[in-house]
Amino acid sequence: MKSEVRKIDASEVEAWIHALHMPFLGQADEESYRRWPRHLEPDRTWVALEGDRFVGTSCVFSRDVTLPGADGEPAPAVPFSAISGVGVHSTHHRRGLLRQMMGRMLHDGLERGEAIAGLIASEATIYGRFGFGWATTTHDLTLPRRTSRLRAPVPELDLVLCGADEASKTVPALFDRLRRARPGQVNRNDAWWGEAWEDPRSSRGGLSKRFYVIDADGYVTYRAKNSWNPAEANVLQVNDLFGATPDVEAGLWQHLLGVDLVDTITAARPVDESLRWRLEDPRALSVTGARDMLWIRVLDVPAALTARRYRLPGRLVLEVEAAPTWTDKEGRPGADPAQGRWVLDAGPDGSTCRPATRAEPTELRLGVAELGGVLLGGQDLASRARAGLVSELVPGALERADALFGCRPAPFSSTGF
Ligand SMILES: CC(C)(COP(=O)(O)OP(=O)(O)OC[C@H]1O[C@@H](n2cnc3c(N)ncnc32)[C@H](O)[C@@H]1OP(=O)(O)O)[C@@H](O)C(=O)NCCC(=O)NCCS
Repeated sequence: MKSEVRKIDASEVEAWIHALHMPFLGQADEESYRRWPRHLEPDRTWVALEGDRFVGTSCVFSRDVTLPGADGEPAPAVPFSAISGVGVHSTHHRRGLLRQMMGRMLHDGLERGEAIAGLIASEATIYGRFGFGWATTTHDLTLPRRTSRLRAPVPELDLVLCGADEASKTVPALFDRLRRARPGQVNRNDAWWGEAWEDPRSSRGGLSKRFYVIDADGYVTYRAKNSWNPAEANVLQVNDLFGATPDVEAGLWQHLLGVDLVDTITAARPVDESLRWRLEDPRALSVTGARDMLWIRVLDVPAALTARRYRLPGRLVLEVEAAPTWTDKEGRPGADPAQGRWVLDAGPDGSTCRPATRAEPTELRLGVAELGGVLLGGQDLASRARAGLVSELVPGALERADALFGCRPAPFSSTGF
């Protein structure tokens, strides 16, 4: 039977949620039927059908993401297509349904003026072919609490410990302020926060509801487990920990080190987390995992490259190669809009990007996925060149590109979508 890909209409939301859960080895329950409609934008929600049976799902959330900023200026936050809910039933795998849905979602995003798309991948093998590159990395950290101390005390913060009700009055605005200082951070809308306040048992992983510890310039949220069996370690799992200054973040860590009953602190943190250098024993902090979080797909090269800021002035002639898979609005193979030769003239005060002329030879050739990987500033092109993914055609171009694209602080993404 022939399959079809289209947007859903508002009456099909329930059927879409029912179909969504199957590929993720679960089945929709009451909570899913309550939860998903708050997030879905029917006009950006796609289904693959065979007859009247929903066999594939995907959706886009209209969100924005922080890009690298210039020193002393607020960083730009740009609208992007936040792709989610991607699944195809095992009965209809590998027939090109994801390819068709992806083509439609990316076109739709371009038509809405979104220069980039992003997603969080279930498997790292899926999305490179569509031009998505690994753009932010999360480090999983573990620290023994009872024996860890900061080398030098940091100023005491004026902290409040509370639950969701009280936190809901201040934390969303605080997060929104602080996430603008960190490339890779995706905004959180009311639906996102609504779920955080609800904090359903299914998202707690056997730990407590979230605690919130709040200062005027930062906050930390955590879950914990307190067992009365001394043979079991009590864990405190940090979710968010953000401060307006390094000292505020250190003050929040200092607070966590003083939480009684806890044996082990775990946290998902940016790769440039500075806690190690504050500890009396820097070896006590273990990095137990390094994983991808946000994958970025550049759709409009000039718009994406000029939206972010660069710390140094510099010029680069880039040849961006098409993704292996690009389909037009009708699902037919087509020309990738990112493909081409581009001249980037970058500087701290702004930049321009335009198609290269014949008189401007290519300095660096890279795939669109590699460009997506470096757009947020956290990945280097040199290691990708050593892996054969980037070609340096003019000596020095690689070093110049890494100096231009690199940024501080390192990108980090802590918002699931
Ligand atoms: C991932 C998934 C959506 C792919 O759907 P699909 O309709 O089978 O994909 P397509 O047939 O359109 O495949 C497009 C390409 O991706 C490849 N591909 C698809 N799934 C892949 C996977 N899991 N790993 C590696 N490659 C994959 C296909 O081989 C095909 O390659 P080609 O372009 O070289 O021919 C589907 O396998 C699925 O639902 N998986 C479980 C849920 C999940 O992980 N969803 C993603 C959430 S981020």
